[in-house]
Parts: sequence; structure tokens; C-alpha cells
Amino acid sequence: MPNVAVIGAQWGDEGKGKVVDWLASRAEIVVRFQGGHNAGHTLVVGNETYKLSLLPSGVVRGKLGVIGNGVVLDPQALLAEIARVTAQGLSVGPDNLRIAENVPLILPLHPALDRAREAARGERKIGTTGRGIGPAYEDKVARRAIRLCDLAEPETLSAKLDELLLHHNTLLQGLGAETFTKDALLAELLDLAPRLLPFAEPVWERLDIARASGARILFEGAQAVMLDVDHGTYPFVTSSNTVAATAASGAGIGPSAIGTVLGIAKAYTTRVGSGPFPTELDDATGQLLGDRGREFGTVTGRRRRCGWFDAVMVRQAVKVGGIEGLALTKLDVLDGLPELKVCVGYRLGERTVKHLPAAAGAQAAVTPVYETMEGWSGSTRGARSWAELPAQAIKYVRRIEELVEAPVVLLSTSPERDDTILMKDPFAG
Ligand code: IMP
Repeated sequence: MPNVAVIGAQWGDEGKGKVVDWLASRAEIVVRFQGGHNAGHTLVVGNETYKLSLLPSGVVRGKLGVIGNGVVLDPQALLAEIARVTAQGLSVGPDNLRIAENVPLILPLHPALDRAREAARGERKIGTTGRGIGPAYEDKVARRAIRLCDLAEPETLSAKLDELLLHHNTLLQGLGAETFTKDALLAELLDLAPRLLPFAEPVWERLDIARASGARILFEGAQAVMLDVDHGTYPFVTSSNTVAATAASGAGIGPSAIGTVLGIAKAYTTRVGSGPFPTELDDATGQLLGDRGREFGTVTGRRRRCGWFDAVMVRQAVKVGGIEGLALTKLDVLDGLPELKVCVGYRLGERTVKHLPAAAGAQAAVTPVYETMEGWSGSTRGARSWAELPAQAIKYVRRIEELVEAPVVLLSTSPERDDTILMKDPFAG
């Protein structure tokens, strides 16, 4: 049985939660490999709604959850999330959650810097989640991050905090923000150590053993390809690589172990935060998509920007993300619209281009070239078989497959887990 990696194919919030939950029920291990508590999954199981940010979705299904080294981990956020789901009746402990000992930590100075910088950017702000994700990744690459394993070595921790504070306090002071003292940070981390260290281990070893034994591993991506720090709408992106290849380096497993790569895309497009969005709708249709799709960020609560399906962008995400099959979600939100538009190219000055340009100016300047399709009057909501779909809805899905050059292997027709049409089992390779 091969493994499966799931990644977002647009700007995030594609409904990964439901798909990952379904796949998690069929896997033995669920691994987070990038991002942090900027991500947000809503899982509806029976009467309970779980809002997960950091915990791999598998913990809800009694599976082993692994947080890989590619994640940036906020210890307070993790403990708060564990407390929250424990209050909902789940049990999360070192027996069902393992964390890479080399995972970099988010400290309180990271969100402080994130927010101070966003405030300083003013009009040009990125619209980050303000959770310190970017500054934490910067520290990792700059080789000054505090990692989980450092909590077991108070002397190492103390010396590393000196270096970290020299850097951060200088910056924070320059931005007119409050600075941090070493004693307080050291005391906080040493206090957290006994609660966090029992989760720490070389997870690569566990994953290697699991792989050799044929266990099914699900790699759960956060954010999405168009928010990838290399391939996304830079600089309006997150600070990690969100493409499937990251599952290997972010978990400590070879690329051949990633298995089938499933991309999640909404049947239309949404985005939170700032940055280019060629198919954005500022009109009543955009409003309608947002209302019907309940487009509010899980983490930020901000209303998402909405627009037509952008096949140029998703095709690009398919190529750079390594997506082999698409799960198309929220088709039901388009029910009853008389006419649908799909972006099939961009106009850039006199030229038509078939990809999103890399330069920020060009990204902001492109305008969509649309193909118009007839809508459907029937309902797709809750459909569980291809035969239950209106003919025009099938046409819409087929056209998307053609344009993005990837098959739709799964169709989600409501937030309910069972309202899914499965064309091909991703675990079957
Ligand atoms: P950061 O990841 O907090 O640095 O935010 C950078 C950009 O990524 C902002 O536009 C955020 O709104 C966006 N972003 C981060 N996490 C998510 C997510 O889980 N879903 C959608 N957008 C996200």
C-alpha cells in the first residue's frame, strides 16, 4: 500500500479537513510536515466539531499523529489545543502524538515581531496570521532557532537565548515594540520542558520502521501551493514550502515514501490575506459564494475573498506541487448559478499568458481570460454518486480536469464526511 500526501492547490482553506479526516481513518500514521498553528482544519465528527491547528488530524480518529521537523511549533499553542480537544473527550498524550526532537519552536517574541512588522508595512502588509510563523522560520534558517531538544539542555538553551535576544530585541526596539528578557523566557521554557519532552523523539526512525512494515502513512499538508514561499504569490505567501516534496524533508523520510499526491481544490477560489487574486469577484456573486460557502478563516475569523475557479493557477499548482489527483470540494456552493466562469488564461498587457508570472508587478497586473459555462438548476448537495449529479455539473468537473491536467479523484458535496464521491482510492496508488 503506498502512502498519500495531501496538499492545498489554491490559497488554502480548500476543505482539506474533511478529506484528510476521511483518509486518516484509513491510515495508521498522520504526519504534519510544514507550517504551524497558522493552519486551521475543522473536523465534524458526529455532534462534535474539532478545530485543529497543530495536531495532525489523525488524533481525532485514534491514529498516531506525528509533528515533523518541518513544522514550527508553538508550545503554548500546542498545549492549549491539547487541552481543548481533551475537554471534548479526546485523549492526546505521548502514546498517540510524537514530535520531532529537532522541530524549531515559536517563542513569544516571534508573534511580537510578526505583528510589529505587519504594522510597519501599513498598506503593504502581507496579512499574516500574526502567529510568528515567518520569524520562526527565519530563525531556523539563520541557525539561531531554539529547538525542542534544546529544552533538555538548560546550558545550551541559555546560550542560544542570548544570541536570539541580541537579534530580536534589536529589531523589536527598532520597530518601537516591547523587548523580551532572557530570564523570563528561560524560566518559561524550563517550565514547559517536562510537559513537552515526553513527546520528543527522532520521528524519522519511527517513520522508517513504519514504512518498512507497510504501515499506511498520510502526510497532511497545511496552507497551499499558491502560498508556497518559492512557488506562490511571493511575497504574499507563508514562510514554508507547501508543495508535496516538502513532506520528505519535513518529516525525515525519502521522497519515494511520499506516495500518491492528492491536491485539494475548491470548485471556486478563495483567499485570505493580501496579495494578487486575478479572478476575485467584488460583486454580488462574490458575496454569494462567501455567504453560501461560509467563507470565514478558521484561524483568523477574517472573511475570505472569493472568485471564480482559476484553472491556470490550479494547473500550475498541479505541476509544481506534484499533484496526481484532485479532490474537488464545495461544488454545491455553485448550485443554481445560471452561469459559471473559469479562468483559462491571463491577459498581461498585449500578451496572453498561460501561467502566473513570478514578478509581483506582473502578478498584480494580470487580468483573467474567462470561458463561460452554463450552470445547473438541480442540486449537487449531498450527492454520493456520479449519477446523482446534474449533467451540467459533470461537464463542469470534466472541463476542470481537462484544463488543470489532472483527474478529479474525489468530489466533496457537503461538509458531511460521507457526502463524497470517490472515483479512485488514493491509497490504492
Ligand atoms: P503566515 O503564514 O501567518 O505568515 O501568513 C502568510 C499568508 O498565508 C497570509 O496571507 C495568511 O493569510 C496565509 N495563510 C497562512 N495560513 C493559512 C491557512 O491555513 N489558510 C489560508 N491562508 C493561510
